[in-house]
Amino acid sequence: MSTTDYSAPDEREQWGSRVGLILAMAGNAVGLGNFLRFPNEAVNNGQGAFMVAYFISLLLLGIPLMWMEWGIGRRGGHFGYSTAPGMFQSLTKARIAKYIGALGVVMPLLIVIYYVYIESWTLGYAVESATGALGAVTDKASQVSTGDYFETYLGSQGNDSGFLGVAGWIGSHKAYTFFAITAAVNLWVLSRGLSKGIEIIAKIGMPVLLVCAIALVARVLTLPAEEGRSALDGLNIYWNPEQWTALYDDAQAKSLFGIGSAAIWLAAAGQIFFTLSVGSGAINTYSSYLSRDDDIALTGLATVSMNEFCEVVLGGTLAIPAAFLFFGMSGVEEAASGSMGLAFITMPEVFANAGVFGIAAGEYSVAILGTVWFGLLFVAGITSSLALSQPTMAFMQDTMGLTRKKAALVVGGIILLFVQPVILLDGVLGEIDYWAGTFGLVFFSTMEVVLFMWIFGSKRAWKEIHHGADIAIPKIFKFLMTFVTPVLLIGMLAFWGITQALPILSFEKTTGGDIIDPNDPAHMALVDNAGLARWMMLALFAFFVVLVWIAAKRGRFKSLENLAEDA
Ligand code: ALA
Repeated sequence: MSTTDYSAPDEREQWGSRVGLILAMAGNAVGLGNFLRFPNEAVNNGQGAFMVAYFISLLLLGIPLMWMEWGIGRRGGHFGYSTAPGMFQSLTKARIAKYIGALGVVMPLLIVIYYVYIESWTLGYAVESATGALGAVTDKASQVSTGDYFETYLGSQGNDSGFLGVAGWIGSHKAYTFFAITAAVNLWVLSRGLSKGIEIIAKIGMPVLLVCAIALVARVLTLPAEEGRSALDGLNIYWNPEQWTALYDDAQAKSLFGIGSAAIWLAAAGQIFFTLSVGSGAINTYSSYLSRDDDIALTGLATVSMNEFCEVVLGGTLAIPAAFLFFGMSGVEEAASGSMGLAFITMPEVFANAGVFGIAAGEYSVAILGTVWFGLLFVAGITSSLALSQPTMAFMQDTMGLTRKKAALVVGGIILLFVQPVILLDGVLGEIDYWAGTFGLVFFSTMEVVLFMWIFGSKRAWKEIHHGADIAIPKIFKFLMTFVTPVLLIGMLAFWGITQALPILSFEKTTGGDIIDPNDPAHMALVDNAGLARWMMLALFAFFVVLVWIAAKRGRFKSLENLAEDA
């Protein structure tokens, strides 16, 4: 291998401490996915069967991908690359690699656009809880249901007229106002940099999150039984061995859950990608700030373990068992039928039925428990949205030469522009979530695994992951990473290509799985919005491909043959 004059830019940032790194990585993974997405996905996609598919996906996809991304990221950082274009190019001679790597900047940015919006609802609802507004809605005398209230909240984008004064304006533009505050907080933290911004938020946020979640779990589990149901019984929804055969018995899966066996597997794998933040480029970027000799084997595994504890143990013991206790199985299924219903509509009702600290169930218990619940979600959200924004921040700084403040302005500008259709048009959020937050994660992971394990080579990849390692990863994982993980990923893409690609690309079916009726104007409006979302995503990808091309012209990327491996 030839040596090179290439050296990593001195000004690249580094994590301030190992604790900070671990908490930031955990904050990256632990997010809204753990507390909102996981319970919903589990209830809707096979319950007990989902959990089996979930753990198998964790073992065969999640953990291997986590190690690989830490390996690719730390190696990239060693050569001065913070994002996937440079990292991918450094793994191969093929010039196209850096353009594929552009996905590792665009996808987290696309996810963060709608993620920050949902995160802003949690902030809004934490404030509404603390001020008593949400408690008043749950009062029996209230004319408004929590469902109506949520609709009104989301509809409060401001279509009023007349002079309302500041308070009145904010009241009628709540969703917008909280979005602006949430986005501003994110950008402010990002503009402070890694150790003075992200790491500080993680060091404060993660302990706060754990305390809030454990306190809520303790409250849920100690609630007195209702009509013979206890919260513990609610855990049976996830842990029912009788449902396991649905994993291969398609007819049983359809009769029990209304979906086929393959859908259960895909949903479980999708949740693993989303919750661990693998397949988006966000982990790679955080790992790039490690030192060359830092351990990744044990620390990567610790991040996975922390995430799974927060998801399966804490996230799993909150919304579902609580809703089950008060409203039974039909209540749980109804609450989980919309993607956000459980958290924003059902949980306030749960809190209205649950006393706390000797305070009787009612408005005050909603104020206390609601503030803790939505505050917890906000903290979980912000530590993840920072991680999802960091690849673009880093790309703008390290590859395009922008200052941190200017990079934050670019990120903010893109989010602000692209969030408008997400807020205002039905179906755009779901469309972006499908392509960037679901399909894209599998696609990007496939590229990554093939590049790292097959093209760069499994021997070198394994050595890279073990460099500086505090543990020896069992050899079986080398086999899994080289053969099983890539074959499963390619299999998932092939299955998608055969069964989904055509109907979805030609708008016969929505990305949510509904058949589109071309004679129904409401359906066609959704098609228009989805089409717009696709153009937006393509435009953003094209923009970053051009930036990568410009950076390449400036000699910013070195390919494998030009890098000194042991430099
Ligand atoms: N991993 C993050 C979450 O679970 C994105 O929300």
